[in-house]
Amino acid sequence: MAASNGLGSFEETSNDDIKSFFDSSPPLKDAAEIKRKLEEFIQKKSFLGKVVLVTSGGTTVPLEQRCVRYIDNFSSGSRGAASAEYFLKAGYAVVFLYREGTYQPFCRSLPNNPLLECFEVTSESNITARPLYEKTVKEAISNTHVAASNGTLLKLPFTTIFEYLQNLQLISSSMSSLGSSALFYLAAAVSDFYVPWESMAVHKIQSSSGPLDMRLAQVPKMLSVLRKDWAPKAFCISFKLETDMKILLEKAGTALKKYNMDMVVANELLTRKEEVVVVTKGGNIVVQRDTTRADADVEEPLIKLIVDKHSAYLS
Ligand code: PMT
Repeated sequence: MAASNGLGSFEETSNDDIKSFFDSSPPLKDAAEIKRKLEEFIQKKSFLGKVVLVTSGGTTVPLEQRCVRYIDNFSSGSRGAASAEYFLKAGYAVVFLYREGTYQPFCRSLPNNPLLECFEVTSESNITARPLYEKTVKEAISNTHVAASNGTLLKLPFTTIFEYLQNLQLISSSMSSLGSSALFYLAAAVSDFYVPWESMAVHKIQSSSGPLDMRLAQVPKMLSVLRKDWAPKAFCISFKLETDMKILLEKAGTALKKYNMDMVVANELLTRKEEVVVVTKGGNIVVQRDTTRADADVEEPLIKLIVDKHSAYLS
């Protein structure tokens, strides 16, 4: 099931709504360990400069506490993974908050179904990449190793809306010490509706009980609290996804003002890999993929533009 990305998502979110969302969420597993990793990462990076949080993939909304069924939000994670790569190349340290099982930086070109197709056993003790995949595998391995040895990439997984928002709060609070060197790039597809934990069925819902009648609560929008309280000096970029071109730019413009974002990246579902429109207070900028290069993506010019704007913001 795919959740709507919400035409009615501009109502006010109060601090009480946010508090009650967090109070009623199941506690984040390993929160102390995540916090420790983040603090270590950010402390090291704060001497070097810019740190970006890239969120990627869709959040799920469980229907049962012992979850068998869930509502999902569409996102392959390709935008987030590609963007993380370009931020790393531009010298940023990247916190990559991603949906478990979605695309990863430097591994986008590898077939994930099945990954083993890339390799062959050449002798009893040797495994090599098949010629077709040799270049892609080499690049994926060396880029991943460079990021690992430089310690510039911290990956944190999530699945549910509860995990995503709790991680977002932890990361934002840790990054607030970086002031304007912190950049938020919120490309994850975040659920607008959810089942509050306390009113959720514990066990698998039985189909023998007849048709399912369920009321979903509204997920509080965290963008304004992120901007106002969690990381007030950071450079903040949110995304706006619509399927109807006619309302896309208007909704992105409203989000820019309402949540006081520095940029809103507007994209339409079917053309999102070809073109995005960056909505800013100074006007709209159309960013397109270079169609003369088969392997070009829209994230390359998009991240270049963002890096330039962030540098201007810093200076
Ligand atoms: O992963 P791909 O397949 O490459 O696709 C990329 C993408 C289309 C998912 C990506 O480019 C994108 O548009 N992501 C944002 C999708 C989304 O959730 O849009 P929205 O219009 O519902 O939300 C707008 C913003 O509000 C988002 O930045 C989101 O982080 C934020 N939000 C949403 C819901 C909510 N309850 N709280 C929020 O803060």
